[in-house]
Amino acid sequence: MSNNTLILGLQWGDEGKGKIVDALAESSEAVCRFQGGHNAGHTLKVDGEQKVLHLVPSGILHPSVHCVLGNGLVLSLPALAKEIKELQESEINFKDRFYISEDCSLILPTHIAIDQVRDKEEGIGTTGRGIGPAYEDKIARRAVRFGDLKNLEELNIKLLTLVNYHNQILQNLYNAQPIAFEDVLEELTSNIDLYNKYHCKTQDLLKLWVKQGKSILFEGAQGSMLDIDHGTYPYVTSSSTTAGGLSSGLGVGPRHIDSILGITKAYTTRVGEGPFATELFDSNADQLAKIGHEFGATTGRPRRCGWLDLKALETIVFINSVSNLCITKLDVLDGFEAIQVCIDYDQNQQPIYKTFSGWKQDTSNARSFNDLPKAAQDYILFIEETLDCPVGIVSVGPSRDQTIYRD
Ligand code: IMP
Repeated sequence: MSNNTLILGLQWGDEGKGKIVDALAESSEAVCRFQGGHNAGHTLKVDGEQKVLHLVPSGILHPSVHCVLGNGLVLSLPALAKEIKELQESEINFKDRFYISEDCSLILPTHIAIDQVRDKEEGIGTTGRGIGPAYEDKIARRAVRFGDLKNLEELNIKLLTLVNYHNQILQNLYNAQPIAFEDVLEELTSNIDLYNKYHCKTQDLLKLWVKQGKSILFEGAQGSMLDIDHGTYPYVTSSSTTAGGLSSGLGVGPRHIDSILGITKAYTTRVGEGPFATELFDSNADQLAKIGHEFGATTGRPRRCGWLDLKALETIVFINSVSNLCITKLDVLDGFEAIQVCIDYDQNQQPIYKTFSGWKQDTSNARSFNDLPKAAQDYILFIEETLDCPVGIVSVGPSRDQTIYRD
């Protein structure tokens, strides 16, 4: 019997998925990504050394786990090459267990240039990694894909048309410097090794694994409120970060997903611009940011902080068919006198809060639900009841053992 689990962030990313994927990867045979690109960032410790993974699933740290980048990703070859090299320097082996879909769209240096000049005008606050422009080209059916590296002559022709188009945008719309075609081509051809080593028809591989009953973890990147359709548009990323994205981004139908684990912090954060109903601007915000180390793993930008928004989460739990919840960073709330939770919005769309008294106790050593102070238990039970979804995991610190598993 297979046990395939989809892990998703339910907020605006940075919910602490990396730690949970890493823990669950131990009992999985494969970890697969289905959307996004190197805009994502997981901070992990490898041999006591801090590493930030942007593209490679954190399952790679477990020697027997296979890792897949599915067709739904947008792929920067230099970013991937750098990450693989760094991991290989830490003795992590990629041979015969790392697969990249031939259908991934490639991120070119011109995408990055367009993203960065455009964001200066549009102010979405993107990560500047070329994600939006790369997805635009995919949807417009003109992208260069990973599989195009198979035939360099055809790649040349396709790439020339695309780079010319990008340079027109850069020069004519933004008065920016064009990027030489030769430089773009060189970036791809100098990374041809990645194609030779890792290219794969991942849809076929996934079909085989599902038929064999392998246990697979599907790892979402970013968070549900950044979803291109269901998020806070236009302040979103350009992919389907919700559960629906898995089927299109890997070629695995919904019936092959056995459980969906939704991850939310015990409060809320957001990087970049856009609406954030429960955002705080007082000393509580500073306290959350400081204790929670709320700085983006990809860009280092400070994250905006606020209280948990159960009204928004209720919708997100439905959209994703979440079967179990994981609450991360509960320990960050340890020092608060009072903790607020948004339970609804008023006519002016202002949050209506329920106030909980703080527990003012260290929870970082709790290893079972009963170890938690009563007020912390009440907080979790309230979340569970309001969202009508069981809380299966509570995380009380960054290390692996600081995790409470409920039945
Ligand atoms: P893009 O994905 O670079 O286009 O950025 C679009 C929006 O998504 C911006 O607000 C980013 O800050 C946000 N974003 C993208 N990736 C992440 C992530 O991994 N964590 C949190 N926010 C992200």
